[in-house]
Amino acid sequence: MNHNKKTVPTIMERKNSSKKIVALTAYDYSFSRLLDATDLDIILVGDSLAMVSLGHDTTLPVSMEEMIMHTRAVSKGCHNALLVADMPFMSYQVSDEQAITNAGRLIQEAGAEAVKLEGGARMAGRIQALIHADIPVMGHIGLTPQSINRLGGYRVQGKNFKETRQIKRDALKLQEAGVFSIVLEGIYDDLAAEITQDIKVPTIGIGAGIKCDGQILVLHDLLGLGMSSTPKFVKQYTNLGNETQKAVNNYIQEVRDEIFPDADHSYKTKTQQLKSVSDGS
Ligand code: KIV
Repeated sequence: MNHNKKTVPTIMERKNSSKKIVALTAYDYSFSRLLDATDLDIILVGDSLAMVSLGHDTTLPVSMEEMIMHTRAVSKGCHNALLVADMPFMSYQVSDEQAITNAGRLIQEAGAEAVKLEGGARMAGRIQALIHADIPVMGHIGLTPQSINRLGGYRVQGKNFKETRQIKRDALKLQEAGVFSIVLEGIYDDLAAEITQDIKVPTIGIGAGIKCDGQILVLHDLLGLGMSSTPKFVKQYTNLGNETQKAVNNYIQEVRDEIFPDADHSYKTKTQQLKSVSDGS
């Protein structure tokens, strides 16, 4: 029995506690292991994988097969945090049946313990269908990157009264549908605070101010491994991008100057063995 294991109920219970939910993305085994050894609550295999690891301009091109492959790798290193996988674009929009089949694959083949999908009130029925199939769902509203072509850019959402009321309605509809938490992305902090206060499931903010029940960031942004320009809400806690380039430049220099590999990093043959090789004996 792993007493550190975070589960869907553990996350839901945080709504009534003062301990914030802390979440990060991961896309491979190495980072998953490192994150899982901390006190992190949730590891999300985000569809940001498309941009961060696969080099696409948006999250739209990432496929189910790619999400499954990366989620499976992350699951190998994730034993304490709750493992959530994003449902990629077009894996849940068409029908309940397709959504259940694809979410089921993320759970059964890849080892996810819950899925996240984007969309408010219009996704409520789909979310209910997934929950009836025993698949826990994390909602995601506000700035939803899979809607980039409709939104026309990654901009803060809820710019007028009508829009703020729609986002609030979305949160209430997701709660009614049975989500265990809701990501609030790119909305004003007062709207996030109002939603957080008025719903019974935990909110997890990204670009939504300090009043949410938790916070999520893209790991590569926090580590300084992300894009050259990051959104206002990103706080870079270190710059592994610079550190990586420094280390690689040192390596290049030392190889060219014949400093590396030195004696400490080489296998030495015993003189006797060498002699017998040259003797042919
Ligand atoms: O894909 C992603 O990384 C996300 C975030 C909420 C960070 O959806």
